[in-house]
Amino acid sequence: SGFPLEGIFVWIVGPLVVTLCASLAWAQFPRECITPEGLRSGQCCPSPTGVAGDECGSSTARGQCVTIAADSRRHGPQYPYAGRDDRERWPLRFFNRTCQCNGNFSGYNCGRCKHGLTGPNCDQRISVVRRNVMQMSTAEKQAFVNALDQAKKTVHPDLVICTRRYQEVFGPDGNSTQFQNITIYNYFVWSHYYSVSKTYLGPGQASFGGVDFSHEGPGFVTWHRFHLLQLERDMQVRRRKWGC
Ligand SMILES: *[C@@H]1O[C@H](CO)[C@@H](O)[C@H](O)[C@H]1NC(C)=O
Ligand SMILES: *[C@@H]1O[C@H](CO)[C@@H](O)[C@H](O)[C@H]1NC(C)=O
Ligand SMILES: *[C@@H]1O[C@H](CO)[C@@H](O)[C@H](O)[C@H]1NC(C)=O
Ligand SMILES: *[C@@H]1O[C@H](CO)[C@@H](O)[C@H](O)[C@H]1NC(C)=O
Repeated sequence: SGFPLEGIFVWIVGPLVVTLCASLAWAQFPRECITPEGLRSGQCCPSPTGVAGDECGSSTARGQCVTIAADSRRHGPQYPYAGRDDRERWPLRFFNRTCQCNGNFSGYNCGRCKHGLTGPNCDQRISVVRRNVMQMSTAEKQAFVNALDQAKKTVHPDLVICTRRYQEVFGPDGNSTQFQNITIYNYFVWSHYYSVSKTYLGPGQASFGGVDFSHEGPGFVTWHRFHLLQLERDMQVRRRKWGC
């Protein structure tokens, strides 16, 4: 894919600010939600504290579990296969209730703070500076590369990926859901792949490559800003551990 070029592009448009509301907008799925029961319920509203009944941190007013909607307008003529692709009206094929976070809280379980905020109540500002790689010392560059290397080796603590179409997701016995662990860096690569991959039309038929959910449309810039932010944040929360 044109990935290296895009990499340059997203760095150039760096200052653009993106606001995203739906926590599952294009993530794959929180590990807590992919049990057979969880999938059958269509609800993905984990608790940030792991306490039963505290969906989305509702006991401390961090958020609540809500029914979600997606744009229901017809697809354009460039995509004639309505209903055949799990990514249409994402993430409704998998989940139709997710967390909506209040105030400064964020994340799939409202356990994180919005960008630029920190503290138990997420009301303290922090400033995150993106350094120019050309002005970094050799040691700083090495620390960055080491952190990338750690990201490549460390299993993502929260998210798992779906490696089958929804139709096959409950497994051959109906009770062994088809999800896999993935490392933090590979998750970054996977989510890009998943968004651009072809639409499967059935055995023996050529897959349809005429739709590309992250490039061929007005979401191109915002999608890629968020894509990069996700890796950036996954690495920032581990920066002390990884020594950068
Ligand atoms: C939400 O998803 C569940 C599980 O797939 C389904 O049973 C339910 O009918 C859906 N609700 C709506 C409003 O679509
Ligand atoms: C969110 O954080 C800002 C910045 O510290 C603060 O001024 C504001 O009161 C916070 N909002 C809520 C709802 O806590
Ligand atoms: C899945 O497991 C549950 C609980 O063990 C059982 O009640 C159910 O019948 C199983 N479903 C299928 C399709 O095997
Ligand atoms: C993923 O890893 C976690 C712990 O790191 C483990 O409990 C879980 O069974 C693994 N899940 C899969 C689908 O391999």
